[in-house]
Amino acid sequence: AAPALRAQFERHVYGVMPEASATKIISHRIIDEAAFGGAGVLEEYELVASATFNGETRDSAPFRLTLLLPASAEGPVPAILMQTFCPTSSTIPHPGVAPPEGGDFCAGDGPAAWLMTYVFGRYIATPPLEAILARGYALAALYPSEAVPDSRSRGEAALEALAAGHGDRETRWGAVAAWAWLYARAVDILETDARLDRSGLIVWGHSRYGKAALVAAAWDARIDAVVSHQSGTGGASLTRGKKGETVAEIADQYPHWFAPAYARFAGREDELPVDQHQLLALIAPRAILLGNARRDVWSDPNGAFRAAKGAGPAYALYGRGGLAQDRIDRFDPQADISFWIRPGTHGIVKEDWPAFLDFLDARYKKPAS
Ligand code: GCU
Repeated sequence: AAPALRAQFERHVYGVMPEASATKIISHRIIDEAAFGGAGVLEEYELVASATFNGETRDSAPFRLTLLLPASAEGPVPAILMQTFCPTSSTIPHPGVAPPEGGDFCAGDGPAAWLMTYVFGRYIATPPLEAILARGYALAALYPSEAVPDSRSRGEAALEALAAGHGDRETRWGAVAAWAWLYARAVDILETDARLDRSGLIVWGHSRYGKAALVAAAWDARIDAVVSHQSGTGGASLTRGKKGETVAEIADQYPHWFAPAYARFAGREDELPVDQHQLLALIAPRAILLGNARRDVWSDPNGAFRAAKGAGPAYALYGRGGLAQDRIDRFDPQADISFWIRPGTHGIVKEDWPAFLDFLDARYKKPAS
C-alpha cells in the first residue's frame, strides 16, 4: 500500500520523484578541529546530486553540506540534518563557513537580519549549537536554495532542468519534493560516516522545510526520525476541511512548491484523493515531532493534531501507539508522534529547541551506566 500511496501524493500534490538518484562528493575538508571553544569538529562537503527521470540524468548545481560533530563523542552519535531559510554561514556561523554566491541575507546586524529574527524568533537563523553539541548530537546543515532556489523563476528553472526527462508538465516535481530529495542526498553522505549513528539520522525542518522534512522521511526509510516545526499546508495539517492557508493561497503565492496538478484542488480540497495524515502514516513506525504555536493559525495546529491522530492506525500495524496525548497541550516526548504546542506565533523561539531535544533524547540518550 505504501508505494501506491506515495504515487498518489506524487501525482496530486508534490510531483514525481526521480526514478534514480546519486550524490557525488566534489570536495571534503576539515574547517576546524576545535570549533566553538573546542566543543565541535567542523567539516564541509561540496556535493552535486543527480536525478534520473525517464532514463535522462541531470546534475544539480553544487551545494554544501556543513557538518558539526561533538568533539568529545565516544562512539557514533545521532545527527540532526537541517535545511533552513538561511545560508549555512548563518546556521553554523564560523569564519570558515563561507556565504553562498549572492551573500547571506541572514548575517550581520543589517535590517534584513534584524527583521528575520524579529518576525521568526531568536533561533530562526542559528540553532543553539552549544546545547546541541553538549547533548551529544551532530548537526548537519544545507541551504537548499544553492541547488533548488526558493524562487518562482530560479526555482522553476532548476526543477525543470533536473526533471528534463519527465514528460508530464502537470506532475512535474515541485520544490518541496526536490528539497525532500536533497535531504535524502545528504543522507547518502551521512550514512557512510562511521562517526554517526546509522539508526539516528534525524531530519529537521521549519515551515516550508518542515513540509520537505516530512516528505523526505515518508519517501526514505533510512531517515529514523523527523522534527517538523509548523509545517502547515502540504505538511502535517489536513488539507480537506481546511483552516488556515488554503490550496488556492499556497498555489498562488508559491507556484514552484508543488506539482502544477495540485492547484486544481484550489477550492476543491475535499476532492483530494489523499490527505496529510497519510503522509504521516508513511513515516510509521518511525518517530515524528510536530511543533506548533497557538496563534500560528495559518499553519493550522488543530489540523496537524487531527492528522497525527489519523496516522494512528498505521502505527498500530507495527504494534505502536502513535500519538499518545489526548490533548493538544500535553506534550509527550516519549510517544511515537509527539505534538508540541506553545504560545506565540510562527517562528523558532527559545522554548522550542528544549522540546525538540527532549523528544530526541527520549530515543537516543543512552541510560547512564
Ligand atoms: C508562508 C507559507 C507557508 C509556509 C511559510 C514558511 O507563510 O504560506 O505555507 O509554511 O511561509 O515557510 O515560513
